[in-house]
Amino acid sequence: MTTPFYTLGIESSCDETAVAILRGERELVANLIYSQAQMHARYGGVVPEVASRDHLRKLPYLMRDALVEAKIDTTDLSLVAATYGPGLVGPLLVGLSYGKGMAFGLNVPFIGVNHLEGHIFAQRLCSSEVIPPFMALIVSGGHTSLVDVASYGEYHLVGMTVDDAAGEALDKVGKMLGIGYPAGAEIDRLASQGNPTAINFPRPMSGSPGFDFSFAGLKTSVLYYLREHPREKREDVAASFLASVVSVLAKKAIDATRRYHRKNLVVVGGVAANAHLRERMHADGNARDIDVTFPAVEYCTDNAAMIAAAGAYHHLVLEESHPLSLGPQASLSL
Ligand code: KG4
Ligand code: ZN
Repeated sequence: MTTPFYTLGIESSCDETAVAILRGERELVANLIYSQAQMHARYGGVVPEVASRDHLRKLPYLMRDALVEAKIDTTDLSLVAATYGPGLVGPLLVGLSYGKGMAFGLNVPFIGVNHLEGHIFAQRLCSSEVIPPFMALIVSGGHTSLVDVASYGEYHLVGMTVDDAAGEALDKVGKMLGIGYPAGAEIDRLASQGNPTAINFPRPMSGSPGFDFSFAGLKTSVLYYLREHPREKREDVAASFLASVVSVLAKKAIDATRRYHRKNLVVVGGVAANAHLRERMHADGNARDIDVTFPAVEYCTDNAAMIAAAGAYHHLVLEESHPLSLGPQASLSL
């Protein structure tokens, strides 16, 4: 019997400290996430210095608990994978240094993972049915990008936001509505109780050619609307604003999938957890003969399972590893 290949995954690019252990390429044997969100909520957003310190405090305990959950010892680990960008440089540095230290101490290979590629691998963890080539929409707090996935490891950027990311706009509008950070999930819930046609917010870039997005103007429209209508039902504002975001994302993503002659569209990242987006994308995909898939909700937001999966693939299939001199890259792209 061959010894199993265990990959340790570490994610610390923003305000989630996460550790996961993967057996082989896809079998998850531990997956732990500690969210610092509550700690940052009082500042209305992530404070990088506070985040770094908390990753440093939490990582050793998560590591211990992950090994217990996986019922293995550190010496059973075959590979260490850690996010090296994009993200906040201090928080990245903590997880990356920890991972490199473990790889050095255990004398196993190390691989740095691009967080955005990690989000794409969340889909691979959840289903073996969708394989490249496909179109991917990455919608998170920091990114809104359309990426043509020719194969795992070969990505072509098709479009991206020219200003705010979709999740960033959701979080900022959430603040205007008095919702704590992060606001996406709460806007999702509020919107279910409101009328999406109550207010006619703009659909930015919807009619323009190309596949870029813009959400800053929409966010400002909501700000002005709330100033003029301070008594408007929050549920209706949330529903109407979300309807606009969802409509633009769905239109551009489906159009791009067709333009690139792909049959599958994969939607990943924290905003992909949104129930309204999931419903609308499925409906639009059905109408245009495109299969739209999402990872399970718990793998949409930041986690280390997706980092371990991307790392294991790069090492086992593409036969890659990184030197221990690899540093954090805050603006890393795909
Ligand atoms: O992927 P992620 O966890 O972190 C980044 O890489 O940025 O995404 C976080 C973003 C936040 O803006 C959060 O408000 C949003 O995802 N989010 C949601 C939902 N859950 C999280 N947005 C809409 N609906 C949700 N259910
Ligand atoms: Zn993310």
